[in-house]
Amino acid sequence: MFSASTYTNRRSKLKSQFQSGLLLFLGNEESPMNYTDNCYPFRQDSSFIYFFGLDHPGLNAVIDIDNDEEIIFGDELSIDHIVWMGPQDKLVDQCASVGIRSLKPSNSLQGFLQKAVDAKKAVHFLPPYRAANTLKLSEWLEIPANSVKDKASVELIHAIISIRSIKSNEEVNEIGQAVNIAREMHIMANELARDGEPEYRIKGAIAEIVDAKQGYFGYTPIITVNGQTLHNHNYGNTLQRGQLLLVDAGASVASHYTADITRTFPVGGQFSDKQRDVYDIVLRAEVESIQNCKPGVTYKEVHHSAMKILTEGLTDLGLMKGDAEAAVMEGAHALFCPHGLGHMIGLDVHDMEDLGEDYVGYSEDVKRSNLFGTKSLRLGRKLETGFTLTVEPGLYFIPELIDIWKSEGRHKDFINYSEVEKYLGFGGIRIEDNILITESGSMILGKPIPKNVEDIQF
Ligand code: GLY
Ligand code: MN
Ligand code: MN
Repeated sequence: MFSASTYTNRRSKLKSQFQSGLLLFLGNEESPMNYTDNCYPFRQDSSFIYFFGLDHPGLNAVIDIDNDEEIIFGDELSIDHIVWMGPQDKLVDQCASVGIRSLKPSNSLQGFLQKAVDAKKAVHFLPPYRAANTLKLSEWLEIPANSVKDKASVELIHAIISIRSIKSNEEVNEIGQAVNIAREMHIMANELARDGEPEYRIKGAIAEIVDAKQGYFGYTPIITVNGQTLHNHNYGNTLQRGQLLLVDAGASVASHYTADITRTFPVGGQFSDKQRDVYDIVLRAEVESIQNCKPGVTYKEVHHSAMKILTEGLTDLGLMKGDAEAAVMEGAHALFCPHGLGHMIGLDVHDMEDLGEDYVGYSEDVKRSNLFGTKSLRLGRKLETGFTLTVEPGLYFIPELIDIWKSEGRHKDFINYSEVEKYLGFGGIRIEDNILITESGSMILGKPIPKNVEDIQF
């Protein structure tokens, strides 16, 4: 948690963007796994954490613009809770620690909102992503549950994105700490990438590192010899010499800022020539993309250049042909890289994605493409100093996709299918780092994580 002034300043910035109305923030509740008292680990809502800092269930907050009042709605722990959960600082003191002087009981929130609605004041709220909060909003604001999301305040969404997108030094420092834990995880995975090692044991070994640092996985880690399956959460394979091990794993620190790092290692410590050739292309795309990032450049352009580097590399290998620029414009590269170059990162691994991908990643002048592959680019808009984001090009050989495209003759002017078929069973390679946009360009966050061939081979 940061100092009270951090939260007060964040709220002041937000308030300065509104003339009147209420800004309503719903915290998260415990989320049951299979019965009420057996819950997933608690995760507070990120915007609630950002503006109010308090990290436990049962809290909501209102910023009343007209009366310049900031209120937390929540209840002091009862002795029943204390018996089971242990003592905690008094809620009123916790509120003070984030600069909030007004604490009201939870059950007064509905009436408070009702008064505002009766007075025709706007109640701005964010799109809920949990059913429990959808139902609360539905009941409190008398909106049918299935249209709550549509009634979310676009004004509030834009205001929050404009503030949360620009990271302060203390936030950048937290992300850097998360990357440093991820670094240890990836060095361990590299060390364990040996013949006969099961994927689940590598998961166990890196989980131990996260736990020992009092962090947690910021998202479900990918640890697989089938890296061509983009979100592969299976850990059932045993590594065989000659395969590639793709590890996409990031730690979150206690403040919830997270890292999102991918490395791809040769099982047994040595790339084959074929693997090395593809690895070199992905690494070149990653390094050059990071160099291309600077304020004023759109991430859509950086993505485009990255896809072009991949396409040129594949052309040199004989897998693609023709003009690389035209191939990328038409989306032929997406057979090998069907995802975007990256996304914002912060309190969420895909930062602020609950507020709406297009609001976060696009703008009036930069719109999302609907082309297969390019449409999966989450961040397209102009980069600004203080943005933190991922750069994560990859090359994948997805047998099912290759089969379909080949049978349809899709982009056959750009793809040498007879050569591509020689790569069936290759797997996938992705390299992902987290960067900060600085005034003059960009910098990789955290200590360097090995990615050059000579640093990961053994
Ligand atoms: N770890 C998910 C991603 O790279 O976006
Ligand atoms: Mn990512
Ligand atoms: Mn990732």
